Amino acid sequence: MAGQIPRQFIDDLLARTDIVELIDQRVPLKKKGRNHSACCPFHNEKTPSFTVSQDKQFYHCFGCGAHGNAITFLMEYEQLEFPEAIEELAAMHHLEVPREGGGPARPSGQADDYTLMQKASTLWQQQLQQGPASAQAQAYIKHRGLSAATVQKFGIGVAPDSWDFLLRQLGTDKKIRDQLFELKLTNRNEQGREYDFFRNRLMFPIRDRRGRVIAFGGRVFDDGTPKYLNSPETRLFHKGRELYGFYEARQQQERLEQVLVVEGYMDVVALSEQGIDFAVASLGTATTSEHMQTLFRYCRSVVCCYDGDRAGRDAAWRALQNALPQLKDGVELKFVFLPDGEDPDSMVQQEGKDTFLQRIAAADSLQHYFFEYLLAQHDAGSDAGKSALLAEGKALIGQIPSEFYREQLSDKLHSLIGKPKGEKPAPGKGSAARSMPKAQSMTPMRRAIALLLQYPTLANSIPQAKELAGANLAGMELLLALQHKILAAPGIRTAQLLEHWRDSQEYPILNKLAMWDPQLEPEQVEPEFIDTFGAIEDQYLQQRLEALERTAKLQKLTPVEQQEYVLLLTALKSRKPRSAPS
Ligand code: UTP
Ligand code: MN
Repeated sequence: MAGQIPRQFIDDLLARTDIVELIDQRVPLKKKGRNHSACCPFHNEKTPSFTVSQDKQFYHCFGCGAHGNAITFLMEYEQLEFPEAIEELAAMHHLEVPREGGGPARPSGQADDYTLMQKASTLWQQQLQQGPASAQAQAYIKHRGLSAATVQKFGIGVAPDSWDFLLRQLGTDKKIRDQLFELKLTNRNEQGREYDFFRNRLMFPIRDRRGRVIAFGGRVFDDGTPKYLNSPETRLFHKGRELYGFYEARQQQERLEQVLVVEGYMDVVALSEQGIDFAVASLGTATTSEHMQTLFRYCRSVVCCYDGDRAGRDAAWRALQNALPQLKDGVELKFVFLPDGEDPDSMVQQEGKDTFLQRIAAADSLQHYFFEYLLAQHDAGSDAGKSALLAEGKALIGQIPSEFYREQLSDKLHSLIGKPKGEKPAPGKGSAARSMPKAQSMTPMRRAIALLLQYPTLANSIPQAKELAGANLAGMELLLALQHKILAAPGIRTAQLLEHWRDSQEYPILNKLAMWDPQLEPEQVEPEFIDTFGAIEDQYLQQRLEALERTAKLQKLTPVEQQEYVLLLTALKSRKPRSAPS
């Protein structure tokens, strides 16, 4: 396992990053007062409620509650894991991500996982050009109608018919052999003997969204089984997330308008060969909700292409079900069914690019396929059928975040069962707005923490009251820890502060407090903070006073305690009365 990424590096990275610029490159922002805003990329909306604050280096959507800093944004928007988001940010600044322990990012001796996968891919591509397997593989490629350019574009290669080709080429020491095994480029038998995982197959590298090789699919040359052998899941490869051909499609076009979802590697490659370069394939699984989310994030129109047979229609229905929760306004989902026995590969070779494109242009709309399928399941001529249709239809429609599609499908559903349209189904849980802290739950402590978090320079406006750490007040430790952190790192901003608490219990509440709107003019912030802090001090003084009073009931107070008691009384009296927190 790689070492931890040092905190300091993450701090520096956030300090170098401008969140406005980062987000603007992905979601164009408009300047509005002190903030920048846009329609939220995380839910559907027509009027912008997504705002990005340059001061706080923080984004927040008032509609769906999405919020966070530059790292969170990358994680959510590009669906990256935390370390991946750090890698991506670092790459933007041309920095290497250091790992704790001083060593390299991985155990010594091991190459980078991605480098090793790329080496395997390159070796197999070379085997296609020369080597014992070359002739057979080239003949097969020709038979499948692929040109050298397409082979090159997809990095297709051949794994020779050998038990130890990769092992001998790459497995020069134990550490790398372990790594090859972990990446499932090799396998081990019960006796612990190692051998190449892929043998005598045409190799398709699977690339992630950034073009790095993360897995392979290998096809037999004859009709052996399995026809395709795929890399099992590894630390690099998560099937439900990846789409074969997505990187290549995005390379081809500045902005992907449309994506065609097909079933097989060969379909993607053959379509590209014919000049249809926007096809992707899910990898031996159904098209998942995660796939759909990714696709709709990058393009407006997704067309699913399946066989016209029973299996194809069922696969299309599964894709539709998985797509519903991702259907936001402004996107479209369509379906193309090919004649029985054909797949996109055979079809496009048979009829050519233009005819195939016409099929895509004439694809069935979501509404068409939705009701075609449901009406095949339920008899709309009987009351039993109607009620089942209504129940199933409503349940499906309720999952759609887009108001447009919800209404369209719901109107049609009601017309089918011969009823005037009923009340509109509410959007599903997924689109419910997350709650903001309510005004009444803003205790002085929360208010103080929120203000300090949002305006870190306030740390200097209050004393470093260490004795308060002993106060029995919820949140006191957090408030002091925040102050301590800020004083130790002058210039630190909200986003970086949040980053420090990411893995802690307090993170959710800090996040909420970071986006709470104190509704103050800039010049009111400091007095408000000092006042709030005063209220907390009062609570503490009151606590001390009550403790001394309890003691006094049991025993005579010591002279020191008596003195404190008198001081507390006068201190509390002399304080101006504080208005109750609103
Ligand atoms: P198909 O069996 O439809 O193959 O599998 P295909 O794409 O038409 O392949 P060719 O034209 O015979 O070469 C569709 C997809 O299902 C997965 C692969 O991703 C394949 O591309 N699959 C299929 C497997 O993972 N393993 C298999 O054994 C078969
Ligand atoms: Mn095929």
